[in-house]
Amino acid sequence: MLTTDQILSLKNEALALISQAQSPQELDQIRHQYLGRKGKINLFLKDLVKLPPPARQDLGQVINEAKSTIDTLLTDQLAAAAPPHHWLDVTQPGQLPPQGHLHPLTAAIDEITRIFEHIGFTRVRYPEVDWDWYVFESLNMPSNHPARDEWETFFVDAPPSPKLGTMVLTTHTSNGQVREMRRVKTPPIRMLNIAKCYRRQQDVTHTAMFHQFEGLVIDKGINIQHLKGTLDYFARKFYGPQAKSRIRPFMFRFTEPSFEVDFSCTHCSGKGCRFCKSGWHEVGGAGMVHPNVLKAGGIDPDKYTGFAFGWGVERVYTLKPGLSLDDIRLFYSNNLDFLAQF
Ligand code: FA5
Repeated sequence: MLTTDQILSLKNEALALISQAQSPQELDQIRHQYLGRKGKINLFLKDLVKLPPPARQDLGQVINEAKSTIDTLLTDQLAAAAPPHHWLDVTQPGQLPPQGHLHPLTAAIDEITRIFEHIGFTRVRYPEVDWDWYVFESLNMPSNHPARDEWETFFVDAPPSPKLGTMVLTTHTSNGQVREMRRVKTPPIRMLNIAKCYRRQQDVTHTAMFHQFEGLVIDKGINIQHLKGTLDYFARKFYGPQAKSRIRPFMFRFTEPSFEVDFSCTHCSGKGCRFCKSGWHEVGGAGMVHPNVLKAGGIDPDKYTGFAFGWGVERVYTLKPGLSLDDIRLFYSNNLDFLAQF
């Protein structure tokens, strides 16, 4: 005969199964097993009719209470297991993915390239790990010459070549001068070599890895006026129509005469300010190609003359109007907040 204990233990059994169920499918099965047409609760209801009226009424209440408790828990658990409903609100503005841009130095290299290509220069790239001969010896700096000390060189621990010497990380893009002469063989040459350079240096205006761009022009009758005209042309294109250049006597072994090149300060138009002090900024070197360098490149110095210049991309770029950056190491800091400003 049906008892209260049987009903309560069936209820507890169902509640335990519901709370352990792992999926909506399992919960459906439990509903079917306990509350379905042929489920366990309905079997109890069939037994109930066989009981005398007072017991039938009491146990009927217990069964109904068990049925509703099982039903409520099943409904709650099913609601919790259902995946959340995602609404698509087509009136909302779209969400754009974050958009990057070129690194400022890559953009500067592109701009420098366009400016020189416009007047007939050809962009080239030569090795950034090169033989001593191209970096020093062919540029009129024999081994043991004290001028080599200026270059703060990183030497590569590799077997030396009997003809070309040891390998070094290129200290300047001038290693491309003789390579270009040997590639073109017969002038005219109008080379723009942009590459990474390396020196054992590190402070606010120097990094161990930096970029230089090197111009080399060789032809019959090339003189300092052509050099000065090219410097002025670049200054106006890169910094604006008011910009000027000036050259000061200097000493490089691979040019004669040699100069240091300054551009007028874009912040004070050359009057002198906190940023420039004198109204001018130095960007690099230049000069008329030394006859020994022409000879090393297989070019007859009695027939041809040329000029060359080599400047730091980072340096030239930081002089742009509106950009008063005094620590070039920031370009290589991978700081996205800094880079996003450009
Ligand atoms: C040279 O490197 C010569 N090869 C330039 C040259 C080419 C002269 C052709 C004549 C003819 P210098 O060592 O001054 O020269 O370097 C030129 C420029 O490179 C510097 O003015 C500076 O702008 C940049 N530079 C040099 N070292 C570093 C460095 N460690 N970090 C950042 N920029 C540098």
